Amino acid sequence: MTGDDTPATDGGTDTEGADSLALDPWGSSTVSDYRKLFEEFGIESFEDVLADIPNPHYLMRRAIIFGHRDYRRVLEAMRDDEPFAALSGFMPTGDPHIGHKMVFDEIIWHQEQGGDAYALIADLEAHSARGLSWEEIDEHARDYLLSLLALGFDPEEGTLYRQSEDRDVQDLAFELGIEANFSEFQSIYGFDGETDVSHMQSVVTQMADILSPQLDEPKPTVIPVGPDQDPHVRFARDLAARTRYFGVTEAYASFEMDDEERRLVARAYEALTDESDTVRCTDAADWLAGADIAGGETDALDSAVEKLEAAGKEPLRPRVRFLDRNATDEAFEALIDAIEGEKRVFEGHIDSFDMDRADAEDLAREVEVAHGGYGFVPPSSVYHRFMTGLTGGKMSSSIPASHISLLDDPETGYDKVKAATTGGRTSAEEQRELGGEPDDCPVYELYAYLLAADDDEFAERVYEECREGDRLCGDCKEQAAQLMKEFLAEHQEKRAEVEDLLEETDIELESPRRR
Ligand code: TRP
Ligand code: SF4
Repeated sequence: MTGDDTPATDGGTDTEGADSLALDPWGSSTVSDYRKLFEEFGIESFEDVLADIPNPHYLMRRAIIFGHRDYRRVLEAMRDDEPFAALSGFMPTGDPHIGHKMVFDEIIWHQEQGGDAYALIADLEAHSARGLSWEEIDEHARDYLLSLLALGFDPEEGTLYRQSEDRDVQDLAFELGIEANFSEFQSIYGFDGETDVSHMQSVVTQMADILSPQLDEPKPTVIPVGPDQDPHVRFARDLAARTRYFGVTEAYASFEMDDEERRLVARAYEALTDESDTVRCTDAADWLAGADIAGGETDALDSAVEKLEAAGKEPLRPRVRFLDRNATDEAFEALIDAIEGEKRVFEGHIDSFDMDRADAEDLAREVEVAHGGYGFVPPSSVYHRFMTGLTGGKMSSSIPASHISLLDDPETGYDKVKAATTGGRTSAEEQRELGGEPDDCPVYELYAYLLAADDDEFAERVYEECREGDRLCGDCKEQAAQLMKEFLAEHQEKRAEVEDLLEETDIELESPRRR
């Protein structure tokens, strides 16, 4: 989850900024162009998976959740009734606000879809990276938890913890720290010689948070966060892979290939295998050298041809390959025994000729877990857009008028909405004539992100009426302000109701630490 405090990371703006593409978990994240995140960081568009979600949350339907990494894995588990988890974390640096509500809702939605749901209080991070005292942390933590429960998180089914109190997470953090080194911290987070060691420790703790739902068994896990947290997600995916006992790849002969080379060799194999039963490496080299391969692949082409020529008369045969990464000798032996059908054992790898890739992945994981490994599935993520501040610019916890706290007095909430900037025209006449600009309107965002809740028809009506000039900002804000007031009143009532529920959970509400 995004932080709050100065500067809040939970409120990007649409203004151009030099830092528009620096995804910095502790900086002031502004994302000027969400499309760039796809190209530059390989975040995938959420649109592509939307159709495969049985009853998508409104944040998904409205493209407020705009991107993901590897979310298909989670959807498949959901569809097949297999275990999956959702986890996010909150730095208790201030009041929970309407930006955090999105993440609460996402966790709760995944819980309702049958996932194991986790919410954690990132108190170590707040203490080390933001310098909050334990007393302040306890106070804010309680507020986050009450809002989460009030919005429908089921603490009996789900898990709540704080980083400082979870021994298993700390132990996992320590193990993962063995796979991480300072140069990576430098390149990923810009850490340097001045960075506090505890801040670094809070990073490995977050890595452990992200992987902790898999401590009892490996399972697809989604991390709903703002895109500023993407560096953490990528790093966690890397660390997860580094702990694995075995790698699984596909190959056609004894030598290793990268993905591009493999694609080329696959083409040669497909083309030649019709003509004769045995396709030799040299035949494939000749075929590739004479084939018309689209530009851009020439490097891979050269290296593939070279490798094929070096392998000479060796026949090409598709196979899956298990690579020994961190396996113990016993685990490697056990894997050899467990592979059914034709196989060939080499020094650091095993080739299997009768398995497909997916089965091979499953088997590798099974053997790893049976021999004391974690067998981590790479964690997935979903990313939501940052809300624009009510005063334009960024939504920032340090500017109270820019955001609405879930603890704001309903009247205060009403007033803040009334005072918000809009995407309206300078006069009513102009508005009727040209229509408003809901895409640039913080008030419209309030409807879409929160006030219209599940009612798509309502959100669309506001949008259309605004665009058509049938809606004027005064009335529109009055309606939004009323809805906000009602929402806050109701939410705060529910918060009061779940006080007891919170006491019953096992999360520690008061840290024994004091400083
Ligand atoms: N770093 C997150 C923030 O800035 C908080 C956090 C800690 C978190 N652990 C996490 C978020 C695990 C997602 C998953 O608020
Ligand atoms: Fe925004 Fe409403 Fe004005 Fe349209 S009518 S610009 S949605 S405040």
